[in-house]
Order: sequence, then C-alpha cells, then structure tokens
Amino acid sequence: MTTAQQETLSSPLSPVMIETKGIIKSFGTLQVLKGIDLTIRKGEIVAIAGPSGAGKTTLLQIIGTLDSPDAGQLTINNTSVRAMNDKQLSAFRNRNIGFVFQFHQLLPEFTALENVMIPALIARESSSSAEKRAKELLDFMNLSDRMSHKPAQLSGGEKQRVAVARALINNPAVILADEPSGSLDTENKEGLHTLFFDLREKMNQTFVIVTHDEQLAAHTDRLIHLRDGVIVG
Ligand SMILES: Nc1ncnc2c1ncn2[C@@H]1O[C@H](COP(=O)(O)OP(=O)(O)OP(=O)(O)O)[C@@H](O)[C@H]1O
Ligand SMILES: [Mg+2]
Repeated sequence: MTTAQQETLSSPLSPVMIETKGIIKSFGTLQVLKGIDLTIRKGEIVAIAGPSGAGKTTLLQIIGTLDSPDAGQLTINNTSVRAMNDKQLSAFRNRNIGFVFQFHQLLPEFTALENVMIPALIARESSSSAEKRAKELLDFMNLSDRMSHKPAQLSGGEKQRVAVARALINNPAVILADEPSGSLDTENKEGLHTLFFDLREKMNQTFVIVTHDEQLAAHTDRLIHLRDGVIVG
C-alpha cells in the first residue's frame, strides 16, 4: 500500500464524524432503540445489519436528523444537533449529510443533472458552480452521457449512481445509505459497492450503510449488529 492510500484510510486518530451516546427511541409502548453508543471516524465505512424490525432504519433516520431520539446525544461533525430548531436542522442536514435510499427517490420530472444539482441550489450555491460540480460527479460515476436523461430513462444501477452523486454534491460529512443496493441485480449491486469504496479511497468519504448484503458487510471496516434495539457486536 502506498503512503497516499494509507492516509485515506481511517485510523484511531482520524476525526470523529458521528458520535451517539445512549440513544433511546420508542414508538408508543414499543422501545425500538435501547441505548445506542457509536463512534464513527472520518473515512470509515460502517455497515449496520440485523433482523427486520431491529431498529436499523430508525437509527439511521436519527443519525440523519430526520427523526429525533427520546433521549441521548448525537454529535455530527463536531456539532451537537439536539438543540437545533427545524430550520437549523434542515440547513445542517443539507450541508452535512447525504442520503442514499433503497429506491433512489430521484425527482421524476427533473434530469439526472438537475437532480444532482438540487441540494447545492438549496444550499444557495450559484447554478453555474452547482452545474460544474454535478457534471464532475456524474462524470466520476460514468454517467457523462446520461446527464439529460430523466429517472424513467435510466436503469436501476444508473439511478442509484445518480442518487449517490446527489448525496455527494455538498461534500457531506457523512453518507447514510439504507439498503442502497436492495433493489439492484448482482452486477449493479457490485458496481455500487465498488463505487462506495472508490469514494472512500479518493475522497475519504465516511459511510454508514444499512445492508442485508453479506458480501458488502464483510468488506466494510466494521459491521454493527443490531438486535432488538441494542448493539450486539
Ligand atoms: N413511525 C413508526 N411508528 C410506529 N412504529 C414504528 C415506526 N417506525 C418504525 N416502527 C417500528 O419500529 C421497529 C423498528 O423499525 P425499523 O424500520 O427501524 O426496522 P429495520 O431494522 O429497519 O427493519 P427492516 O430490515 O425490515 O427494514 C419495527 O417494529 C417497526 O414496526
Ligand atoms: Mg429498514
């Protein structure tokens, strides 16, 4: 391994990007998360696995500030998010967190290029610089000749790569992905997983990925098993 490669891999000295302490969450009488403590460092790729209903999506939504815990602390990129109001939270989310969902969730009436640009425009970037960055990212995803296609004109694997480009456009501190390859066939699945590792190597990107895919889980830096709302190893 070259020195340059070593520098892009996470070490105990890398900055902490996500820290949770004692996260608890209930829906009605059902306690879904029972005290989650996690520390994730810059450049780490962490997988979260566990049976259906274990609380994986709930945890990811809380880390992503889309849902709030009943108790516990969440720090992302050195910022404690608990005290923020909704407006501050959405601005923080737009700047710091990129999401990739199982079903791409691209906007159907916009082209691939426009879909990727939208979070940058929301962050008040000029449209010329948003377009330049979106084009670079789509280029990196091997989608240069698909930029003017709308989602319905893209394959499943292409749509997920557009979704990854969209997640990256504001240089987020972390990318959170909930079964991102769950809707893809084997070939596209492998392509998407390779892309995650490329992005880590080239951009030192941090990922938290909920996945049922054992091959992906086996290749990540850390596999966290969630069962009945607790981390079991
Ligand atoms: N908004 C909600 N209201 C009530 N119950 C909820 C809500 N969201 C999730 N739950 C419940 O919380 C538990 C955990 O759900 P969660 O979606 O986090 O599971 P998961 O580990 O992601 O499962 P899967 O692998 O099936 O996606 C489930 O029992 C679910 O029914
Ligand atoms: Mg889920």
